[in-house]
Amino acid sequence: MNPDAPNRAAADRHARLDPSAWVVRFADLAPRAGAVLDLACGGGRHARLFLARGHRVTAVDIDTGGVADLAGDPRIEILAADLENAPWPLEGRMFAGVVVTNYLWRPLLPRIVAAVAPGGALIYETFARGNERFGKPSNPDFLLAEGELLRAVEGRLRVVAYECLEVTEPKPAMVQRIAAVNRAVSA
Ligand SMILES: C[S@@+](CC[C@H](N)C(=O)[O-])C[C@H]1O[C@@H](n2cnc3c(N)ncnc32)[C@H](O)[C@@H]1O
Repeated sequence: MNPDAPNRAAADRHARLDPSAWVVRFADLAPRAGAVLDLACGGGRHARLFLARGHRVTAVDIDTGGVADLAGDPRIEILAADLENAPWPLEGRMFAGVVVTNYLWRPLLPRIVAAVAPGGALIYETFARGNERFGKPSNPDFLLAEGELLRAVEGRLRVVAYECLEVTEPKPAMVQRIAAVNRAVSA
């Protein structure tokens, strides 16, 4: 057995659980007292980030195996749900923070925006058109069109920051990202 293998496995897991720099940068927009939704949470890297910051967290995924180790934490609610073929599992619920990364199912965009509580924030980052040059995802159904996140929040949330650009880290990709708050624009 390669003596480096356990270390490499630990490093890979660590990298998978590294939070997005975009989410870290705007995490303060979610009021501390409020709960945060990590939608399509995967390994729960952002659920873990917000738990560490003192939030209650709701983590949703079709496969909740990646957050099974968090199940004993009374501050986390783990929901197994098929977001694409079943009713919206968060009907009527709102969150101080809504975080979505590396996931897109277009019909959910209005639901996601509506889940941001007054005073709360949406932090969204995923792949954008042009990413097909770098590999997967390459299906346009899973790639944001230019300005799509801006249009999704228009008239509902105030945009704090938006980018659509080519990145090199953690791997070459085209990404689009937004941080927006459910607060009136000050005069
Ligand atoms: C690329 S991973 C991103 C995970 C996490 N957001 C992150 O950035 O680390 C996409 C996630 O979407 C979840 N997913 C895919 N289809 C889904 C569905 N129909 N309903 C709920 N979750 C789904 C997958 O299980 C996976 O955890």
